[in-house]
Amino acid sequence: MADAMIDLRSDTVTRPTEAMRQAMARAEVGDDVYAEDPTVRALEERVAGLFGKDAALFTPTGSMANLLAVRSLVAPGQEVLCESSAHIARAELGAHGAFFGVTMRTWTHPHGGLDLAAVDALFAPELSPYFVATKAVSIENTHNFAGGRVLPLSDMQALRERADGWGIGVHLDGARLWNAHVASGVPLADYGRCVDVMAVCLSKGLGAPVGSLTVGSQDTIDEARVWRKRLGGGMRQVGVLAAAGLHALDHHVERLADDHAHARLLAEACGVDPATVDTNIVVVDVPDAAAVVATAREHGVLVSALGHRTVRLVTHLDVSREQAETAATVLAKALTD
Ligand SMILES: Cc1ncc(COP(=O)(O)O)c(C=O)c1O
Repeated sequence: MADAMIDLRSDTVTRPTEAMRQAMARAEVGDDVYAEDPTVRALEERVAGLFGKDAALFTPTGSMANLLAVRSLVAPGQEVLCESSAHIARAELGAHGAFFGVTMRTWTHPHGGLDLAAVDALFAPELSPYFVATKAVSIENTHNFAGGRVLPLSDMQALRERADGWGIGVHLDGARLWNAHVASGVPLADYGRCVDVMAVCLSKGLGAPVGSLTVGSQDTIDEARVWRKRLGGGMRQVGVLAAAGLHALDHHVERLADDHAHARLLAEACGVDPATVDTNIVVVDVPDAAAVVATAREHGVLVSALGHRTVRLVTHLDVSREQAETAATVLAKALTD
């Protein structure tokens, strides 16, 4: 049924294109637990290079990439600071605490951004054995639940400076950093310079069926490789998936600008100021989210409820301009019904 629908629930719903499937079918493979899959190695080297880092590790999910990244900076009983609607705090089901004993405290920002004054107030130095010590600050760029907002490079640079002063780490959840890069024009390596370790996803706007990477120093990635295996994430002839990622990097980065334009078009139809839509996500406040989801569905458009009074629309590779226009008409009506 979803085939006939215009699916704006998430940018994770894309299907591999025909060209991507061909690249996957042609992939050279080997056993990646032995580090012998040439396509995975090529992907890891390429992504590390894009961000100016030593190394990268292919993971099945963005959640695992974040988990391995945060673990590299924060030991059991220590804390990471993050924004209160960060994916690591809200949507990874407590994995950082459940698996690695990491605790979190949060600041709140209307765009999911950085509030350096709040971070200053939250920061806890090592005062063992009385207090939990802050060992890292985590940021998310773009910010999913805040509506795909781009975190300015200047904020990331300011955080880097502060963290260096305190001698702690910076983690970036860059699941959609590609979108931030295309929207802002900031080179990927400039983002990489601001952080110790990051996670990036291939399976969101880039349209690969599976795959994320943890990116950082050689030591961090060597250790992450061990922990990935411990967590059951050691994959074998996974070059078929890495090939999808390489194809996406070649063909699906610059086109993200189309998704951003489609999102602004949807925003306008939904009464959201398009100037507040930085990338491919539109968050709309509504009186009754379930009713909007149901009405849109009846008219062939899938959107998701983020809460009782919020719906989220996400544009992606499988939504054409024409479909975005159709969805805009449907949603404008659903919002006034
Ligand atoms: C900002 C952000 N980080 C991490 C993830 C986790 O990715 P995955 O679903 O591959 O675990 C998501 C998923 O939507 C996300 O939006």
